[in-house]
Order: sequence, then structure tokens, then C-alpha cells
Amino acid sequence: MRTSINLTSSFSASDSLILLQSDLLGLDKFGLSKAEVDHVKKQLKDKANPFVTLNQYNRMVFVIQIGDKASSPKLLEDTRKNGNIIVAQLNTQKIKSAVVVDNLKIQGISTAIAEGIALGNYQFLNHKTGKQKDNSLSQIKIKSDNLTKAEAGQLQNQLDSVLIARDLVNEPLSYLTADQMAKDVAKLGKKSGFKVHILGKKQISTLKMGGILAVNKGSVDPPAFCILEWKPKKVVNKKPYVLVGKGVVFDTGGLSLKPTPNSMDMMKCDMGGAATVTGVINAIALSKLPIHIIGLLPLTDNRPGGNAIVPSDVITMHNKMTVEVMNTDAEGRLILADALSYAKKYKPELVIDLATLTGSAHAAIGAQASVLMGTADEEIKFRLKNCGLKTHERLAEFPFWDEYGEQLKSDVADLSNMGGPTAGAITAGKFLENFIDYPWLHIDIAGTAFLTAPDSYRPKGGTGYGVRLLYNFFLDIANKK
Ligand code: BES
Ligand code: ZN
Ligand code: ZN
Repeated sequence: MRTSINLTSSFSASDSLILLQSDLLGLDKFGLSKAEVDHVKKQLKDKANPFVTLNQYNRMVFVIQIGDKASSPKLLEDTRKNGNIIVAQLNTQKIKSAVVVDNLKIQGISTAIAEGIALGNYQFLNHKTGKQKDNSLSQIKIKSDNLTKAEAGQLQNQLDSVLIARDLVNEPLSYLTADQMAKDVAKLGKKSGFKVHILGKKQISTLKMGGILAVNKGSVDPPAFCILEWKPKKVVNKKPYVLVGKGVVFDTGGLSLKPTPNSMDMMKCDMGGAATVTGVINAIALSKLPIHIIGLLPLTDNRPGGNAIVPSDVITMHNKMTVEVMNTDAEGRLILADALSYAKKYKPELVIDLATLTGSAHAAIGAQASVLMGTADEEIKFRLKNCGLKTHERLAEFPFWDEYGEQLKSDVADLSNMGGPTAGAITAGKFLENFIDYPWLHIDIAGTAFLTAPDSYRPKGGTGYGVRLLYNFFLDIANKK
């Protein structure tokens, strides 16, 4: 269920309340009896209780004591997690709307609770027939001196865009072919005000995007290449920012069919990078941020059909380099390489690609962070990693030394698409480095884009990882922070 978020200056006696407190004085103002106030105080003495729930039959009241702690990444994440527990309780009681009353002096807490609630309230019901089991909660109102109307609007845009990314990832190939994804992105662009230009197979061939064409060869469905653009009249950047997202709508591995049992089952998530890029540009356009930004989405499935590429095939990429395809399951780097090479024409300020690129990234650090590497300067990396801490969409930077690239030598072509047995996430990044001539960052989201079990407000399935991270990164740029 989508959760709408509005500011309010009042609430009524029948509203369910989420009270954010520095202390427990004056709780009677919110319609709590003396016995209830005593109960709240007793419960919160036990530090193991994150908050207290009062079920007053016609409404629920939640009391969260934050104290006078300064805002920190941990406090924000704990608050999001509390929001996720609260939304489950509200839905159990079939409550439709609740008011967050922010009695704190610090910023960011009412936003975090709203994030936990709205993201925890997500459901993917597109393919459920019959009685829709929609969650009851559809609205939260926030009463706060710490949040402006503009910030509340940005929060809504950001959260709506996370849900869009999740929906795209959760759609199976039976609905979301490359062509369908391009159409869905174009429809979204119309609605939110960003431009979408779709290149079909013919144009991809004319542009000699040999990586995309090679990966698509074993498929019955054509590839597509989407160019998203948000360029308002007033912008803070002379040269555009470009986001590139891996858009493999399903990855069977091709003829190097996925070897590990069950490892193919979740591969509808392999367009997670493209979904995130779509979400970020959507949020930026909805918020009308003064930034010129372009999104590039190479889209195809990876199948072992009739004319599929075989190991040892040599292909010529968009940048004219030749690649020996030693493993058809290392397909993401082939389509990304063409998109990264295409991005040169924009003379970008910075390019960031997001991709469910390697099992190696997931194996190295699990789902707790995405893997970051690239050539952009230290200050940009520092700012992005900081946004990662603030949003809890964290980044772990891996080394990017030249020696790793030596594993990609081929006897017959300029490059092999396979590295050695170790450091697979880094050699994948090193492969991509051959196709850039601008400041660039690569984010491997193989561990974070999709979960096989829920983790608090991150549901099972698509997480929308990266939308909040990059939206906040660009928000800071727009605010010239
Ligand atoms: N799509 C996969 C990577 C992946 C793994 C994404 C797990 C999400 C969860 C990618 O195309 C792939 O198959 N990579 C191979 C590369 C190898 C053959 C060099 C891998 O990581 O094993
Ligand atoms: Zn693969
Ligand atoms: Zn893949």
C-alpha cells in the first residue's frame, strides 16, 4: 500500500498518535489517563523496550522516547525500524491513518519514522487475483516544527520512487520484458515530467552496441536502450550527471547456464540497477531539483536460445574494443560497457553506474552494504559514503588497483570478460574502466537489491536500494552543500 504523507498542525481525540518524546512530561495532553502514563513510564524504564503501544480500541498511541540524543545514523535507522513495527501493529488493528507528533528539538526523526512506516507498508499485489489484501494504513500526518512543507514533499517523492523501483524489480519476466520495461519507464516519465527516449534493436545495431546485441542473441525478445533526461531551466551543474543501470530483465546465465542450485530463481532482480536509476530520476523530477541529469538503461534478457553467444566468441563493443566472451553469465559488464561508452558523448561531470553485477560482491559483504569503486575523486566518494550512512544504504569501498585488471587479459581479443578465481567484484569493475573517459563510480548492488527474507522495512524481494542514497546525494548538490 502507498502511504501518503502530509504535514498537519492539529489532531483530533480519535486520531492514532505516534509520539516522539524527549521526556515523558505532559503526556496527558494527548488523552492518556494517569494509569496509562504510569504504564508508559514503567515500560520505558526497561531500556529493552524501544517504545510503548497503547491500544485504546478506537485508536492506538505509540510513545517513543528519543531523549536528548543527537541525531546519528544509528538513531535514524533504529527509528525507521520502529516505524516498521508500528505500521504492522496499525495494520493489524485496521487503522487507516495516524499522526506523528514530533515533540523533539532535533531534526530528522519524524522523517525517519515516516520512512520506516511507508517503506514497511509496501506490498506487491500486481498479480494477486480475487480479494486484494491491501494494508489498511494509507496516510500519515506529521505535526512537527522540524520539517518544512517542501521537505515533506521531497520525502513523499523519495518514498514513492523507492516503491516504483521495488515494483519494477518484483515484476517477473512474464510481464517485464526489455520492451515492456522501456514502455513502463516512458509512461512514468510522462507522469513525472522527465524525458524518455527509447532506442530499439535497429538503433542499437546502428550505434554498434556490440555488447548489448551479443547478450541479446540467445533471446526471442528484442533489447531496448532507454535514455532518461531531467533538465529544468535553472540548473546548478554545467556538465550533466549520468546514471547508468544494469537492465538484465532476466539472467539465466546464457549458455554458461547458472551452475549453482537455485541461483537462477531470483534473477528477475538483475535489472535492479535500471530500476534504481529510474527511481532516482523520478524522485529528482517530481521534486523539480535544479540538476541536469541523464539516465541510461541498457535492457535485455540473457538466454541460451538458438543463436546465443558461445564461450570464446569475440565481439566488438560500442567503443570499438574487442572482447572475448569466456563466460556468457558475465553479461552485465557487456551491456554496461556499451552504455558507459555511450555516456562519453555527454562530457559528464560524473557517471555513477548501479548493477547487480557479481555474486562476489554479495559473498564479500552480504546484504549490509553495496560495493563501491571507481575513479571519481576522494571528496565525491566521501560525500556519497556519508549519504550511505545517513540513509542506511551503505557503501563499502573496495580497492581498485591496476594489478586487478591484469586478470582480464585475452589471447585473442583486447579483453576477456572473465577475471580470475578471486576478487570477482573488482575485476568486473576493472573491465568497465576500459570504457570510460570521465570521473566515474561503480556500485555493485548484487547483495542489496533483492532479499530472500525480509529485513525490517526492507521486504522480501526488491528493496529499491540506492534510490534514497542517490536522491540525498543529489539533493545535497542541488542545495550546494
Ligand atoms: N547477475 C549476476 C550476478 C548476481 C549474483 C546478481 C547474485 C545478484 C545476485 C551476474 O550476471 C553474474 O552472473 N555474474 C557472475 C560473473 C562470473 C561469471 C564472472 C558471478 O558473479 O558469478
Ligand atoms: Zn550473469
Ligand atoms: Zn547478471
